[in-house]
Amino acid sequence: MISSVILAIALGLQATALPARDDPAILRRACPDYVSYSATPHGPYSGGPLKLPFQRPDEACRTFSSPAVEKVIKDITSRLVDKDLAQLFRNAFPNTLDTTIRWHQNGSSKASTRRGSKQDSAQWTGPQTFIVTGDINAEWLRDSTNQLTGYQPLAAQDKRLYSLILGAINTQAEFVIQSPYCNAFQPPSASGIKPATSSQKDTVHPTYDPSFVFECKYELDSLAHFLMLGTEFHENTKSTDFLTERWFKALKTVLRVIDAQSQPTFNTKNQFVRNQYTFQRQTKISTETLALEGVGNPLNSGTGLIRSAFRPSDDATILGFFIPPNAMMAVQLQKTAKVIKTAGGHDDLVSDLQRRGRRLAKAVRDHGIVQHAKYGDVYAFEVDGYGSRILMDDANIPSLLSLPYLGFLDRSDKVYQNTRKMITEKSGNPYYLEGPAFHGIGGPHIGLENAWPMSLLMQALTSDDDAEILESINLVRNSSLFGLVHESINVTNIKDFTRPWFSWANSVFSQTILKVAAERPHLIFGKNAKPYRIE
Ligand SMILES: *[C@@H]1O[C@H](CO)[C@@H](O)[C@H](O)[C@H]1NC(C)=O
Ligand SMILES: *[C@@H]1O[C@H](CO)[C@@H](O)[C@H](O)[C@H]1NC(C)=O
Ligand SMILES: *[C@@H]1O[C@H](CO)[C@@H](O)[C@H](O)[C@H]1NC(C)=O
Repeated sequence: MISSVILAIALGLQATALPARDDPAILRRACPDYVSYSATPHGPYSGGPLKLPFQRPDEACRTFSSPAVEKVIKDITSRLVDKDLAQLFRNAFPNTLDTTIRWHQNGSSKASTRRGSKQDSAQWTGPQTFIVTGDINAEWLRDSTNQLTGYQPLAAQDKRLYSLILGAINTQAEFVIQSPYCNAFQPPSASGIKPATSSQKDTVHPTYDPSFVFECKYELDSLAHFLMLGTEFHENTKSTDFLTERWFKALKTVLRVIDAQSQPTFNTKNQFVRNQYTFQRQTKISTETLALEGVGNPLNSGTGLIRSAFRPSDDATILGFFIPPNAMMAVQLQKTAKVIKTAGGHDDLVSDLQRRGRRLAKAVRDHGIVQHAKYGDVYAFEVDGYGSRILMDDANIPSLLSLPYLGFLDRSDKVYQNTRKMITEKSGNPYYLEGPAFHGIGGPHIGLENAWPMSLLMQALTSDDDAEILESINLVRNSSLFGLVHESINVTNIKDFTRPWFSWANSVFSQTILKVAAERPHLIFGKNAKPYRIE
């Protein structure tokens, strides 16, 4: 607990309109660092068998607040039968707002002139939001989109949440325009927050400004997540406010990258053509750099797939035609077309996006589905267009397990069902990790003894089996000993885990509980309970 005097100072500073640049620094001094706060249990405890701690920061130290979010917390936790699960939801659902909104300006002074005026082309106009991943002071495009997903259904009823998410879209657009190959970004200079330091020695082309970019791993899903942030916002609010000139510029930048990354390694005369993007890091870890002088392994022509140099785990791909983000991009291109069409925009652009989306979806089916001796037709994790394939799944999203969640197919799809069977057992997925204390899908990022709670949550989100859903949720609950959902858990020792403060995982947990509350209330609210839906 921080003293009431310091609290009052912090509160006073929040209430008066000091320049934004002073605010975070002084608040940081008054408030405990959440990296250590999240790794120390605090009361009041859950009252359940696991005695889960209460891990929300003191009100004055929260980075954003929303009455709509508080209401959902009350509604859900008052109905959850399991007190430990209730405590986990109480901590997890607001975690992104409580701890990761490092900068938000609602841009109200400029909003009125944003459209149809000269302001239209100005950078950084309108609301802006900078959201850190958790324990690292940088924003990942993928994480921040997912960190906000749980709040999207509330944006229509809470004006400040609306402004927060609109700001996040605008800020991501600026990131994408300036450095579309990069995955993680520094605080915008207008925020006055000091850039995070990275100790990595990377040689990357195209080059970037390290005061703007935190890390520059090209991950196709980062760009799909930029689109998803907008399409989810539209689906939930019907708003097209984010379709600014800057956003269209970002979209065109995405399409340019997609075109460049659809190029094969050899041209029609069989000559080697160096990819526009190369990445090399001085490291002992092979998944942290790319083979062949930063180019990556060769990829064949004629697949219609888009290369991804890295995975959503930030590990290098082995074969660059990485299937899950291609499926995700196919969906997002088509959803983006729909939004632009609704807004009455640009017929050519709409049909171009639709065509790209349809073609990419077909490419995923044509080249991503392969024959497996035991499981039949399954989706490969990665292919190269020469016939080579990597069969596995990784916990990070987009994954093969998440294909129905991403909207690419229905969970009853036969090939998906075969794939799901393969990746959720040891004999089919080398990264399905089992031990006496924990099990689930992991990945190379943390290693062969750690499974990730996020994979169990995705298993629950894509299942129609009550027993599987409950077992997955309960295993995550059992492993969340510090009252938050962690990154990975040692399969032989549940007390040994990584990243106590990993906001994305908390968002996936909250989404899982809200989905169960709406569709299978009896599982968590007791027999004959009525469904709970955010309206
Ligand atoms: C934006 O912020 C200003 C200043 O803090 C405030 O007066 C205004 O009401 C806010 N607008 C919205 C839509 O939240
Ligand atoms: C969670 O832990 C409880 C005991 O603390 C145990 O009874 C239960 O089987 C565990 N659930 C799962 C899914 O591991
Ligand atoms: C996992 O836990 C076991 C048992 O405590 C330990 O021997 C092993 O080193 C741990 N693995 C990692 C990667 O920390």
